[in-house]
Amino acid sequence: MDFTQRIAQLTEQLNEANHKYYVLSEPDMSDQEFDQLLKELETLENEHPELADPNSPTKRVGGDITKKFDTLKHKYPMLSLSNSYSLGEIEEFDARVRKAIGKEVEYVCELKYDGVAIGITYENGKLVRAVTRGDGEKGEVVTANVKTIRSIPLSLRGEGYPAEFEIRGEIFMPHKVFAELNKEREAAGEALLANPRNTASGTMKMQDSKVVAQRKLDCYLYGFYTNRTPFAGHFQSIQECQKWGFKVPPENKKFIALCRNIADIEAFIKHWDTERHHLPFDIDGIVIKVNEYAVQEELGYTAKSPRWAIAYKFSAEQAKTTLNTVTFQVGRTGAITPVANLDPVSLGGTTVKRASLHNADQIEKLDLYLGDQVLVEKGGEIIPKIVGVDVSKRGPHLQKVTFIDDCPECGSQLTRLEGEAQHYCPNATGCPTQIKGRIIHYISRRAMNIDGLGEETVDLLYEKRMIHDPADLYQLTSEQLLTLDRFAEKSVNNLLAGIEISKTVPFDKVLFGLGIRMVGETVAKKLSKQFRTIEALMAATEEELTAVNEIGGKIAENCVAFFNEPVNRKLITRLEDYGVQLSLAEAPVSDKKQVLAGSSFVVSGVFSSYGRDELKQLIEELGGEVKSGVSKNVSYLLAGDGMGPAKLQKAQDLGVKLLSEEDFKALIEG
Ligand code: IVH
Repeated sequence: MDFTQRIAQLTEQLNEANHKYYVLSEPDMSDQEFDQLLKELETLENEHPELADPNSPTKRVGGDITKKFDTLKHKYPMLSLSNSYSLGEIEEFDARVRKAIGKEVEYVCELKYDGVAIGITYENGKLVRAVTRGDGEKGEVVTANVKTIRSIPLSLRGEGYPAEFEIRGEIFMPHKVFAELNKEREAAGEALLANPRNTASGTMKMQDSKVVAQRKLDCYLYGFYTNRTPFAGHFQSIQECQKWGFKVPPENKKFIALCRNIADIEAFIKHWDTERHHLPFDIDGIVIKVNEYAVQEELGYTAKSPRWAIAYKFSAEQAKTTLNTVTFQVGRTGAITPVANLDPVSLGGTTVKRASLHNADQIEKLDLYLGDQVLVEKGGEIIPKIVGVDVSKRGPHLQKVTFIDDCPECGSQLTRLEGEAQHYCPNATGCPTQIKGRIIHYISRRAMNIDGLGEETVDLLYEKRMIHDPADLYQLTSEQLLTLDRFAEKSVNNLLAGIEISKTVPFDKVLFGLGIRMVGETVAKKLSKQFRTIEALMAATEEELTAVNEIGGKIAENCVAFFNEPVNRKLITRLEDYGVQLSLAEAPVSDKKQVLAGSSFVVSGVFSSYGRDELKQLIEELGGEVKSGVSKNVSYLLAGDGMGPAKLQKAQDLGVKLLSEEDFKALIEG
């Protein structure tokens, strides 16, 4: 089999596996096998860029950057639905429809997914374009981002699809993914995301499709648009779309149903009014559509929405209560979060006493006064939010809620970065809450996991001026600790043993424990694996950091800024002196002879016997180091075909040795 055939075979196998996993939820290939095949395809594509297919399964991991999204006029306007909030309104809708048509009509009921609408165009079975709803007339072209969503096919299966058509659906973020993302953000000291819908919407507008790929979005498709539809109605279209590989609402889970009369529709609505709480994603209602296309056409459209469809919206769980005070919390990164303190009120089975106000813009928008009657709502959010104020209940002489100018903990003037919603306390080294917050993060279970030490003890030790940063923990003595109330020999020994054991905690956890903004557990693992020592990481430029898979520009910026701070450098030196693990314990396990040990390489261009990633891996397995940019510390520039002239020039200027592919082979074969 030649490489053209192999590429086609791998593409087919991977598309098939993807379909089984993400569309049918019936995986039949192990992750390991999938990764192996994907790697092989990636290698072949790198070696034969002329065969690169824009719809290759390798595109799922993203990589394309969109600096500015183009706008495009929709071929079929993306209308909205008229909303209704009662069964009475649905009965009126049905009566209107039957009156206009003069006979009974069939309906399709579907879930109203709470995400972002997308229109995806396929030409000759290939995904060519994906456009957001925008204002309904024109939307933004977000093709690279949409291609990373695994449940959206890049190439269609089966046959009989029109040469050109558009399919529409809703992109959403499942609850589980949203919760994990927020957990990571919390651990990395970042502001929490408000809800899955806004997160999905924000993700679609991200410039870096690599980040989009990690966000694990999903999509249900619910609309088929083509010039001359071959199908009689909506329900049939959706079923055909399923055969072509689209993830459509499953009938067996009652995500979609054909309804012959109003009683069927009402049963569907009633079912989901309670069942919706068990879905793994948010819905905000039910959509009722006339099934038959000919009848749809006859009914036509108003200026904004079709006359043949209506949305039934579930009422969000809301409660009214009094706003007593607003407090401003300071996080360990200095981020300020306003919190509303409320009269306790029961909402969706729990008692709510506090609600998040997010940021200054949100407070301004709500126009809050202390003592106001506020409307609290629980959506997909973890913390309930205030969605409105009953102004008619507002008494006289109330005090308007305004954002603070100074840090409530240390009095420093707050700052707000251009274009960011969040305020920060800039006094990182002097603000007690930030100092304690950083120590609490360092000792937390997912970081150093220090036994015998909790938040209260950190408070106490800080107050007694025994600790000011994580390194101070390692110079605590039993004499010192025994002077404290509530500390006896046993608890002291326990605490000191816990601190001692933390010296064996692996580097990635220590790195996470340092609390660098945006460096959560996953990022810390990646960085430690790649750079192996804190020295190498501290020396890395933003460019070298972003060259690491999945490390974006913002993370790189935060790392460089952190290591540029003299206090942080001092902290690291002290931790190292106390014996904390600031490098990976062992060299990577390799049974190969370390013939490249001590040499570093920059790999550039295309090679005939290796894919680029394969080559990098080989260098590392043989003990060499791979660098992303040419500098005087690089031993060799491994030059493939089509290498950039700037790199070559720089290597020559700095006296870095050039290696051809043949030279390299000779080098490793000894
Ligand atoms: S059909 C002309 N079906 O609701 C009607 N829309 O207000 C086209 N939505 O922008 C929409 N689930 O984002 C349709 N099963 C569903 C839907 C759905 C969610 C959203 C969609 C649209 C909005 C309409």
